[in-house]
Amino acid sequence: SRVEFTADDAEKGAFPHYMLKEIFEQPNSLRNAMRGRLSRDDGTAILGGLNMTPQELRGVDRIILSGCGTAFHAAMVGEYVIETLARVPTEVEIASEFRYRNVPADKNTLQFVLSQSGETIDTLAAMREARRKGIKCLGIVNSVGSTIARESDGGCYIHAGPEIGVAATKTFTSQVMIMTLLGMLFGRIHHLSSADGMEMIDELEAIPDKIASILTQTDRIKAIAEKHANAEGMLFMGRQANYPVAMEGALKMKEISYIYASGHPSAELKHGVIALVKPDMPSVFIAPDDAVFDKNVSNIEEVLARKGPVICVTTEGRTELERLTDDVIYVPDCPSYLSPLLTVIPLQLLSYYTAVARGCDVDKPRNLAKSVTVE
Ligand code: AGP
Repeated sequence: SRVEFTADDAEKGAFPHYMLKEIFEQPNSLRNAMRGRLSRDDGTAILGGLNMTPQELRGVDRIILSGCGTAFHAAMVGEYVIETLARVPTEVEIASEFRYRNVPADKNTLQFVLSQSGETIDTLAAMREARRKGIKCLGIVNSVGSTIARESDGGCYIHAGPEIGVAATKTFTSQVMIMTLLGMLFGRIHHLSSADGMEMIDELEAIPDKIASILTQTDRIKAIAEKHANAEGMLFMGRQANYPVAMEGALKMKEISYIYASGHPSAELKHGVIALVKPDMPSVFIAPDDAVFDKNVSNIEEVLARKGPVICVTTEGRTELERLTDDVIYVPDCPSYLSPLLTVIPLQLLSYYTAVARGCDVDKPRNLAKSVTVE
């Protein structure tokens, strides 16, 4: 079940940028994240690197997730997914805040730190602070042998392969995948049946092909990006697990296109954000076909009524959104706890094509380093 990478994995080949190559690698990087970690017979996930027995896992009554930037957004998705699937209270804290906060925790608290590089100084410091307090801390890391991987009490490699583009893409979806496997593992220990687990495995294994089908729509996403490439700013909105996806979409847009962007829970619109809505400030709504679809549609109508352009990411079949806006991007149907794995893909492409249209240096955005090793 070992995942090997060759020198070719670090070459961009026919792709004009590493970021685009890495976006297109996601069907495979997610297969690698799952490889050897799903047991159909037992209907559960196998994460041996956690170094914890089922009894020890059962004793965990609180989970803390920490990371920076994109890894923080993956942790936010993790909070939704783990609480939905496992009903274990889970909280997320940005690593740079966690390290200086005096977090109360007891022996049943388990911390996970998420980091592509495994070297981010704030994430490392959050882990060291947790361990000083006697909190068990596990790493969800991409770089094999990195400091977090070495110093943690165990964990799980995401096996996404080298990520060269400064903007994290495939490592976000792989981190979210590991969060989902954790949700399934804890869920099975608590209240999910093996049949529930088997159904989840079917849904998980269908995700790579669903991403591949989104990647066939790049021409359409490119056209939407070019249409809005001169926007003054962009708002990203979503609900539930797609709220962190909105934050991630906004971070990608800021990082590589230098358009000011911010991500919000859709319902926060009325509490201030709506004051920004105007014709050169598009709003990107992540509104899949879920329990809060109609709530998102109301928010979309509020933006349109104030002459704000709207770009929507929704589920195939929800064609009624085309009555509201020309710029609708479809993703395949999936259970709502998996939807961030699909909805983030069009947002990665939207930021990529916006940055290209604006002539930006996509792989090496100004002022940014791939990993932040000084405070
Ligand atoms: C993501 O696009 C950013 N470049 C940045 O936010 C990054 O996710 C953050 O610095 C954390 O890095 P890490 O995953 O290596 O710890």
